[in-house]
Amino acid sequence: MKHVLAARQFSPEALGEIFDDADQMNELVHNSDNRRELAGRYLGSMMATLFYEPSTRTRLSFESAAQRMGMGLLSTENAGEFSSAIKGETIEDTIQVLDGYADMIVLRHKEQGAADRAAEVSAVPIINAGDGAGEHPTQALLDLYTIQKEKGRLDNLTVVVGGDLLGGRTARSLVQVLANYRGNIIRFVSVPELQIGDDIKLHLSEQGTNFEETEDMYQALQGADVVYWTRIQKERLRQFGVNPELESQFVIDQAALQAMPEDAIIMHPLPRVDEIHTTVDRDHRAKYFNQAENGLYVRMALIDQLMTQS
Ligand code: CP
Repeated sequence: MKHVLAARQFSPEALGEIFDDADQMNELVHNSDNRRELAGRYLGSMMATLFYEPSTRTRLSFESAAQRMGMGLLSTENAGEFSSAIKGETIEDTIQVLDGYADMIVLRHKEQGAADRAAEVSAVPIINAGDGAGEHPTQALLDLYTIQKEKGRLDNLTVVVGGDLLGGRTARSLVQVLANYRGNIIRFVSVPELQIGDDIKLHLSEQGTNFEETEDMYQALQGADVVYWTRIQKERLRQFGVNPELESQFVIDQAALQAMPEDAIIMHPLPRVDEIHTTVDRDHRAKYFNQAENGLYVRMALIDQLMTQS
């Protein structure tokens, strides 16, 4: 694992190792005796977080993870304006400069494929923290970790994935990894304009993963083990020729809770807009804030593995 570019690069065995490491990180973070040891682990090493798109969870959990393990940080949170990109510097040049300053680079970019371009020229690990409507592989890792923790397995699951499946990169990454496990069934719930891409459907077919597409949310929710909801990515609709005023038609509310099993879990990569009612937050099935917290432990584990290999 030189770079982290796509969710499907992780085998079930590799994921198992990351999840074991994430469990340990969770314990270390919550045990004050261990915190000092942890804080000395990568003292003197540096992480650069280069974000050309806004972020709360991904950037701050990576920065928290790095600092809890003693790494220093070089951070630009609005790189399109506050780095020399505004003067016309290419991503390739920026990466080759940061190579001299940091031991790994966490990159979020508005263009699909930007992380691959960065990896082509980078001497240090590139972590794709979201590339346009392409992929968000570390989100998939924390999503799977959450499912494993909450459901006790990653196979033989019925996973209902709803919302904006065209512009939403988290759903794309998640279902590609779920396809590595036997017996999973994916139900995609979206309006026709926001259906999951043909590349993902082809991948699922090649992997032998059963999937269906529907606009009937209530029927899809019946028998669900995991309900994975996403917001409309308004910032990307124009690039797909879709009306940017499009609103969420599929809302998880009290009626939707009635339709899903008592032991289902509800996940969302966040940020949420209006596609999950805040009244759902009090339901025992709502796991999206635990999911966001799990991002810290999984990203600590990922950093640990990358640093150990380098
Ligand atoms: N889930 C996620 O990627 O959130 P941010 O955009 O806040 O990083």
